[in-house]
Amino acid sequence: MKIGHISDLHILELDQPRPWEFLNKRFLGGANLLLNRSDEHSVAVARAALEHLEDAGVDHIAITGDMTNLAFDSEFAAVANIVRTIDDAEDRVSVVPGNHDYYTRDAVETRRFERHFAPYLDSDLPAYQLESGYPFCKFRDDVAIVGLNSGIQTPWFFATGRVRDDELKAASALLDDPTLRDRFTIVMIHHHLVPFEHSRVEYTRRLVNAQDVLELMRERCVDLVMHGHNHHFATIELPHLGGPGMLRICEAGSTSLSTYSDPKFGGKYNIYHIEDGHLAKIETHLYEGEDHGFVHWRERTFEKEF
Ligand SMILES: [Fe+2]
Ligand SMILES: [Fe+2]
Repeated sequence: MKIGHISDLHILELDQPRPWEFLNKRFLGGANLLLNRSDEHSVAVARAALEHLEDAGVDHIAITGDMTNLAFDSEFAAVANIVRTIDDAEDRVSVVPGNHDYYTRDAVETRRFERHFAPYLDSDLPAYQLESGYPFCKFRDDVAIVGLNSGIQTPWFFATGRVRDDELKAASALLDDPTLRDRFTIVMIHHHLVPFEHSRVEYTRRLVNAQDVLELMRERCVDLVMHGHNHHFATIELPHLGGPGMLRICEAGSTSLSTYSDPKFGGKYNIYHIEDGHLAKIETHLYEGEDHGFVHWRERTFEKEF
């Protein structure tokens, strides 16, 4: 089974926003975009990544949040249009929200992310889903894909996340369900679980209850956590606490980035090869500009542990 992982598309699509729609935290985000970031994230690069994943024959595509920049309806519609182009998308795509998708109170209260991406939020274990729709779980062959929501509305200058206490409790019960016992278990979440080494302002962008979430992942012997948020390539390994084996925590980067100064921060996606119930290989592909497109950048293989 091959799973593609893309993240942090940050699609900018302003369909004639009205001035008063900027009379909130968007004022700050909009100014930041105009000054620094408007050209960096590209729809064409995001589409190229999806084409590559289709050519590579991945069975499933996981998208770990920050689909949008300012959580406008027009931005969600633009990303949903892109996701819809994936073959058999309703069965082959899983998504979780990021802090940018919960950018304003209005976006959170009207459940804008959940409305636009409803087809990809279905659960095969609905008994554990809260009213919020999380946590969800999808069974695909011998793999279980669990989605957690770390998106919260934050004050100006903050990009923190939090998994709600009731959701964490539900996730704990879900991960204990006997149907997961013999499956390779993946958890998708937007925020990182281990402090980001390159962060100058970790306090304002961290997952507030990262320690609790991380402990649960290790106790329940989750095999792989996929996340986004840092726009940086990383694979972190920590031993399980509830049994043998390792938890691997992976981020490819922001997939739609068209330029980079350090390839670790460049536009990337991962492909995870899961064979015989274990992670056999992670392939990482990097966007090298219009002429070259995405190129094979790194590969890491793993021995079966037990
Ligand atoms: Fe992001
Ligand atoms: Fe983020």
